[in-house]
Amino acid sequence: MKILVTAGPTREYLDPVRFLSNRSSGKMGYAIAGEAQRRGHTVHLISGPVSLVAPAHVACSHICSARDMLDAVMAHLAWADVLVMCAAVADWRPRRVASQKLKKTDMQAELALERTADILEAVKCKRRSNQLIIGFAAETHDILKYAKKKLVHKGLDLIVANDISRKDAGFGVDTNAVTLLDKKGGQWELPLQSKNNAARSILDWVTRYFDQTSQLR
Ligand code: C5P
Repeated sequence: MKILVTAGPTREYLDPVRFLSNRSSGKMGYAIAGEAQRRGHTVHLISGPVSLVAPAHVACSHICSARDMLDAVMAHLAWADVLVMCAAVADWRPRRVASQKLKKTDMQAELALERTADILEAVKCKRRSNQLIIGFAAETHDILKYAKKKLVHKGLDLIVANDISRKDAGFGVDTNAVTLLDKKGGQWELPLQSKNNAARSILDWVTRYFDQTSQLR
């Protein structure tokens, strides 16, 4: 299969030295890309700024902002059988970007923001029905409720719900505790495990999905 994976945060600059971002380390997305490559799939990784090295034999596009990530995903979407949208894309960016460093005396206490494009919303309009689209939901509370909403609203086949209120799961650490929710109502709560093992479980679900749909044909 051809698998497109996004990982890491995006950065939304307000001047050449300052930006808005989030705590995503990219570890979960890189684990998925590495595991998919080891299973013999062709993988393209679209990565925000992280301090990780791309897994061997994985093509990687390094991007910075949410707009760059949207462009890169759209450029590779038709190629992919599976999109795993693991990146923590910024939802807001500064309305104005200064080309020179802003002096603190020139800055306002309030920062004017505008929404970034929702990449999965854009994917929803362009996807083929035989492509598998997987999203992530990083939440601190009412995790399954919000994840189910996103699964439907973003037109996903699977959502990976992530409890980021735990110290041993989610952003930055090597372990994760996720629940997989699919569009048919299937729900699998996975134990706390390494991100590599969580990646294996997600890719097992992908393999099962394609096995079942090919049996139906
Ligand atoms: O809406 P929320 O950001 O919580 O949804 C998370 C999912 O949506 C993730 O799969 C993330 O990669 C994706 N996303 C996106 N475009 C955005 C923000 C998030 O595709 N602007």
